[in-house]
Amino acid sequence: MRHFVDISDYSTVELDHLLRLASHLKLEWKSGGNRPVLGGSVLGMIFQKPSLRTRVSFDVAMLHLGGHALYLSPQEIGLGQRESIPDVARVLSGFVQGIMARVFEHGHVKALAQWASVPVINGLSDFSHPCQAMADMLTIQEHFGRIAGLRIAYLGDTNNVTRSLGEAAARLGASLSVASPAGYQFAPDAVAALQGMGLDLMLSEDAVEAVRDADVIYTDTWTSMGQEAESAKRRAVFPPYQVNADLLRQAPSHAVVLHCLPAHRGEEITDEVADGPQSLLFQQAENRLHAQKAILVHLMGGM
Ligand code: CP
Ligand code: NVA
Repeated sequence: MRHFVDISDYSTVELDHLLRLASHLKLEWKSGGNRPVLGGSVLGMIFQKPSLRTRVSFDVAMLHLGGHALYLSPQEIGLGQRESIPDVARVLSGFVQGIMARVFEHGHVKALAQWASVPVINGLSDFSHPCQAMADMLTIQEHFGRIAGLRIAYLGDTNNVTRSLGEAAARLGASLSVASPAGYQFAPDAVAALQGMGLDLMLSEDAVEAVRDADVIYTDTWTSMGQEAESAKRRAVFPPYQVNADLLRQAPSHAVVLHCLPAHRGEEITDEVADGPQSLLFQQAENRLHAQKAILVHLMGGM
């Protein structure tokens, strides 16, 4: 059984295939609609955290492909509390053809994959956000016509989004410069894992240095879901990493700006940049739909 838990589980050839499939499904949708290749299939969506993009894009993707999606809230499932994860996985596998899960602990989505007899998709964990990375790469591919050889600069907190971005960059031949303050950088094991995948990874505490040769400038919230108690402390440390007009002037003029959203405008990104001519934020958000259609069709439709 194939799952989609981490980008690192996928080869370059498979990721290229998924990106081509995503572009095809996007074009097909925009030319009148997708064929109902997942007709009769149901995706169970387990959410332990809030979501706009992940929830709506998976739901709409299933609808466009002829299937259906079920939203299962934290209160209903009580994953690992009301019922054990192996039991939830096996019960759900009898009802649905695929499971998407947004969890706190990465081990929980891995346990679902271990016990389910249907494909399991990671819709974000504290460790990684692989569906986001696929939409990011689709957006970069659309804009530049290629991914290999590009330099991505990531500014701010090194988190789940950074890790999946790094894994996708490694597999697809882009390089990554991460600028983050001391204490919020990749742990040594994460650096080793990414470099082990062949990633050209540069780490610094200097935002300007990171963006100087960047084709893509990426940022995310300083306080991820589950870290809310630290938000005041984080707001004091991260301002030098804000993606603002001054910083953009230090980057090549062709550089584009990405953000997985939700944005905390005025913190990690300014309105001027988020709504400016170099921003691809809303194309990137829409691409969640198209990238995830490819993942769904690949895993549940055998394409
Ligand atoms: N980018 C992203 O995953 O957004 P949501 O948290 O709204 O799903
Ligand atoms: N790093 C963020 C991403 C949100 C899509 C979080 O985990 O909250």
